[in-house]
Amino acid sequence: MLPGILQALPFALFGASLALALDVTVPLSPPATANRIAGDHVSFSLEQDRWLDWSGTTSRNDFFFNTLDNLRQLSGVPPQIRIGANSQDRTNFNPGIDFVQTTFPAPSKNVPYPEASSIVTENFPDTRVIWGLNLGQNNLTAGYLVSQSITKAFELPEVRQNGIVLDGMIIGNEPDLFPVNGHRPSGYSVSQYISEWKAIASNVTTTLKITSSSNTKFWGAAFAASSHSNNGFSPQALFYQGLLTSPPGSLISTISQHAYSGSFCEGNGALLQDLMTKAYIRGNLSRFAPDIAATRAQNLDYVMGETNSFACHGTPGVSNVGGAALWTLDYLLYGAQVGISRIFFHQGIGFKYNLIQPVALTRSPLDATPLSSPLPPHVQPQYYAAILAAEAIGPSGSTRVSELSVGDARISGYAFYEGNALVRAVFINSLAFYAGDKPETRRSTRINLSFNGSQAGGSVKSFTVKRLDIPHADGETGLKWGGITYETSNGRPQGQSQTTKVDVSIGFDLRATEAVLLSFNR
Ligand SMILES: *[C@@H]1O[C@H](CO)[C@@H](O)[C@H](O)[C@H]1NC(C)=O
Ligand SMILES: *[C@@H]1O[C@H](CO)[C@@H](O)[C@H](O)[C@H]1NC(C)=O
Ligand SMILES: *[C@@H]1O[C@H](CO)[C@@H](O)[C@H](O)[C@H]1NC(C)=O
Ligand SMILES: *[C@@H]1O[C@H](CO)[C@@H](O)[C@H](O)[C@H]1NC(C)=O
Ligand SMILES: *[C@@H]1O[C@H](CO)[C@@H](O)[C@H](O)[C@H]1NC(C)=O
Repeated sequence: MLPGILQALPFALFGASLALALDVTVPLSPPATANRIAGDHVSFSLEQDRWLDWSGTTSRNDFFFNTLDNLRQLSGVPPQIRIGANSQDRTNFNPGIDFVQTTFPAPSKNVPYPEASSIVTENFPDTRVIWGLNLGQNNLTAGYLVSQSITKAFELPEVRQNGIVLDGMIIGNEPDLFPVNGHRPSGYSVSQYISEWKAIASNVTTTLKITSSSNTKFWGAAFAASSHSNNGFSPQALFYQGLLTSPPGSLISTISQHAYSGSFCEGNGALLQDLMTKAYIRGNLSRFAPDIAATRAQNLDYVMGETNSFACHGTPGVSNVGGAALWTLDYLLYGAQVGISRIFFHQGIGFKYNLIQPVALTRSPLDATPLSSPLPPHVQPQYYAAILAAEAIGPSGSTRVSELSVGDARISGYAFYEGNALVRAVFINSLAFYAGDKPETRRSTRINLSFNGSQAGGSVKSFTVKRLDIPHADGETGLKWGGITYETSNGRPQGQSQTTKVDVSIGFDLRATEAVLLSFNR
């Protein structure tokens, strides 16, 4: 019987103990569709207003540092960090103020941790960054002063010694939304944006010493959406209107797109299952395929420069739970498959969709109710997806990934290659298993692997299975990566590593709401 048909039959026909089965063919050498996946494919976008809470001011924020370092240990490089977003277009410059000065609107139920409405920045990052410059205020003098200050910060000996580099400069956050958020009158067009961008970019090119051979480059676009055409706001429109042929435009290295899967300020299990679903993730990312192709045709890099599950800083009970870890994993791997070079997951202090909460919180990130005792810094379920991905990518610096053809609407798979050798695979079962479900109803699928093609290293004899154990799709805590927890007070892993070795002929079981990493042995 075809596995697809078997899958379609109601589970009750089989009873709880019978695992469903699925055959998957894994090519032994990378197919033509395999794409490079960088060690820092999972990167972070930080809201600029409270960025110093992440880094620490007078002393380092060790919790945040450790969570970045855990990833570095697995994939060889730490995540890149983009500092910008909504608060970037409200940041002015004040050389007299040490770190940051902010004013915050009152929290509300749906937005317990609002972005600051005005910010003054003088201190600059102590890590490798992409910095966002204000275009909302369109103030050339302010842009000039900020670029001077940034240049000074990145030339400090301690910054250089630590290998901290300014990779990118982004001028303006989501200019396509300027009329909506009051920065411009309605009717603001992409050609107006291009001329404003060029005026500021021409000016700061000199201060930042951006040249065709400098490390620092401009990153273009940072649009909230895309028209995917030569009209409206899109990479295509930027190219069509000649941005790249202008002197500062020729110094753009990367096109950055922003995307959220939707906007829900309240949610439920059905919304969580939708988010996790394979077809939903594929649709949400593949709509950018024409933009990616147009960008690659210009020899530019294409990144998802700000993204996460749902706007509203995430949806309570959806963005902050175990199921969101599987959404994150499938999203970031499928992103590599469609040609996105890096995925910058957006984070703000107390936001619901954070991978990491880097400081203690005194009111609930879910509904703003005061907490009787502060919630200490901690990782959220999505962090495990970053860990799993970092381990799957590994430190080779040349890993490629290719999506596997899996005949099941709830299960996705990816093969990883180093050089021409198949080394690992990831499988994700995004069927939601909820806290309210009876344990014996947790469905499990037996996956049989067969291997296709030939490989110098010989055929695969066995593989090691490491599981991401998620107690429930709608649970906030208790995840374990191969027996290890990251839910610790210092963000470092704790526990006894658990993996199992299986003969290829036996296959493996994948439960509802679970992901596995297979490492192949010959
Ligand atoms: C999986 O492999 C086992 C052992 O080779 C075999 O008995 C079973 O039929 C296979 N299942 C499927 C769905 O191919
Ligand atoms: C940039 O703008 C500032 C402020 O208006 C001005 O003083 C400076 O000369 C400009 N630099 C360049 C290279 O245009
Ligand atoms: C532009 O920025 C400069 C430097 O921060 C400031 O002095 C000036 O008032 C600003 N201009 C306007 C119109 O806001
Ligand atoms: C993401 O996919 C879902 C399901 O197809 C769709 O309802 C939603 O509108 C998509 N999100 C965006 C922003 O297009
Ligand atoms: C085996 O691999 C070849 C080349 O990568 C591919 O064209 C073919 O479709 C694969 N066959 C299966 C059954 O996956």
